[in-house]
Amino acid sequence: MNILVTGGAGYIGSVVAERLLEEGNQPVIYDNLSEGHRDAVPPGASLVVGELADVPSLTECLRTHRVDAVIHLAASALVGESMVNPSKYIRNNVLAGTDLLDAMLSCGVKRIVFSSSCAVYGEPVTLPITEDLPTRPTNTYGETKLAFERILHWYEVAHGLRYASLRYFNAAGATARLGEDHSPETHLIPNVLICALGLVPHVEVFGEDYPTPDGTCIRDYVHVADLANAHILALGALEKGSSLYNLGTGCGYSVLEVLDAARAVTGRPIKAQVIPRRPGDPAVLVASPERINRETAWKPAHTDINSIVESAWVWRLAHPNGYEQ
Ligand code: UFG
Repeated sequence: MNILVTGGAGYIGSVVAERLLEEGNQPVIYDNLSEGHRDAVPPGASLVVGELADVPSLTECLRTHRVDAVIHLAASALVGESMVNPSKYIRNNVLAGTDLLDAMLSCGVKRIVFSSSCAVYGEPVTLPITEDLPTRPTNTYGETKLAFERILHWYEVAHGLRYASLRYFNAAGATARLGEDHSPETHLIPNVLICALGLVPHVEVFGEDYPTPDGTCIRDYVHVADLANAHILALGALEKGSSLYNLGTGCGYSVLEVLDAARAVTGRPIKAQVIPRRPGDPAVLVASPERINRETAWKPAHTDINSIVESAWVWRLAHPNGYEQ
C-alpha cells in the first residue's frame, strides 16, 4: 500500500516509515522539516516537503502518490509551549489536521491512523489507565489531541472515515539508524544521555515531592520500534472498523529509576540536580495495553527500561549531536 506519513521525518514518524518499508509498503513522507530531519527519512521512502495547511500541495501529493491510507503524526508536541501559545497548537493540531481530512476525502482516501497522546487523560483517576477513563486534559496540547479524536469520530459519522487513534505513553529508545533528536530537547532519556556524554554538567530532576515511592514522577516508557509495530497492526485493524488504543507497556519507571538505568547502561556517572516540579506533570502515567493486545495481538518486545535506554545510548554514541553531525 502507498501510505502518507505526515511528520515522517520526526522521531516516531521516521521509525514508522522504516517499518512500513520492511512490511513491503511504500511510505510517502509529508513533513515541513520544522522539527523533522532530512537524514531521518529512511532510504526508499519519498519525501514531500510541505505544510499540512497547504491544501493544494497536500492534495497533489495524495493524488500523485496514489495514497491508500494516512498515518498522521505531524503535530506540535511541547506541553509547556502549548500553555503559553495555545493558538499554535489549535492551528497545527486541530485546524491543519482537519484540512488533512478534507484533502483525504477529496481524493477518496478514507483510512487514517492518528498519533494521539496519554495527555488526553490529564491526572488519571485510577491506574493503570484504560481507554474508558475520563478524558480531562490538563494542558492545551492534550486538549488538541482529544479534539482531533472527536473530529475523527464525526467524520466517520458523516463520511464513513475509518480511523485508529493511538494514545502514546512515553516514546523512547532508538532503532539502529533512527533516534530521538529534538531542539530544544525536553525529554528525560535524551537529556540524561546528553549528560552521560558530558555535554551538560547535570540532569535536572523536576520535583521529588510527588506521592510515589521515591518522590519522582513515574512514566510508561514504550520503545519506538514497538510503537511503530502498533501502527502497522492498527492499519490492518481498520478493515474491521475504527478503534482507540493506549500504547504503553503497563510498566512504570520513576525519573530516578531512569537515571539509575542510564548509569548502569553507560557506565558513566550522571549527576542529578533536583529542582521544583515542572507545571502540569501528573505524578503517575502508566497504561493498560490490554485492549490493543486483545484486539490486534500487539505486545511490546521491550519492557525493561535498561534495554530501552541501551538502544537510545547506542544511537546517541553514533550521533552525539543528533542528526547534525
Ligand atoms: N523530566 C525530568 N527532567 C528532564 C526531563 C523530564 O525530571 O530533563 C521528568 C518529567 O518531569 C517527567 C518525566 O521526566 O516526570 C518524563 O518527562 P518527558 O518530558 O520525557 O515526558 P512527559 O511525560 O512529560 O511527556 C510525555 C510525552 C508528551 C505527552 C506527555 C503526557 O512526551 O508528548 O507525556 O503527559 F504529552
